Amino acid sequence: MIKISPSILAADFSCLGQEVLKMEQAGADMLHIDVMDGHFVPNISFGLPVIKSLRPHTSMVFDVHLMISDPLRYVGDFAAAGADLITFHLESESDPSATVEEIHRLGKKAGISIKPGTPAQAVLPYLQQLEMVLVMTVEPGFGGQRFMPDMMEKLRLLRTYQKEHQLSLDLQVDGGIDAATAPVAVENGANVLVAGSTLFGKPDYSQAVLQLRRSCELG
Ligand code: DX5
Ligand code: ZN
Repeated sequence: MIKISPSILAADFSCLGQEVLKMEQAGADMLHIDVMDGHFVPNISFGLPVIKSLRPHTSMVFDVHLMISDPLRYVGDFAAAGADLITFHLESESDPSATVEEIHRLGKKAGISIKPGTPAQAVLPYLQQLEMVLVMTVEPGFGGQRFMPDMMEKLRLLRTYQKEHQLSLDLQVDGGIDAATAPVAVENGANVLVAGSTLFGKPDYSQAVLQLRRSCELG
């Protein structure tokens, strides 16, 4: 079963509550929330108050993607703000195992993300601990970039490892996902698709979610 996680980075922030509600009604499975600190990535998005104010307005799973330098320092705050699944970068300054342990101690699901330049092998030592791995298919920092097909090899390796070790592990892709690239990612092992511009950029969210879902079924 493919899960679709629309990224609010591409939403209209002047009416974010309505945007999220519309996406929930459109049948999206979770909500992707991109937090950028202007240090780990060369862009600043938004932070805790936005997540906290959205929380009472929707029952969607909050899939929080932390593109920040020191995630361990902040995971408690993000859990308190309403995150359900917290993904941080392997390339960040925090100790990966300690960060995952802290996320679990807070009662939340944990994911680790790898940038395009990081090999899939680097995340293998943590897979037993994780609920999800996020394979970036663009350089993190900005929406609307082009999908990098070279990343598919990482998905294949991770999916093979997951099957061999019978792990319960989601594989997420993020960046440049649309009806043409989603089936490619799914064929290579992804089961959670993040999409920003291809969903929030469309006039009819139900149609957009359906179109993305169908593209994978046909692919
Ligand atoms: C990029 C973010 C993505 C972004 C994806 O750093 O992690 O989640 O919103 O945007 P699209 O789908 O437009 O490539
Ligand atoms: Zn993201």
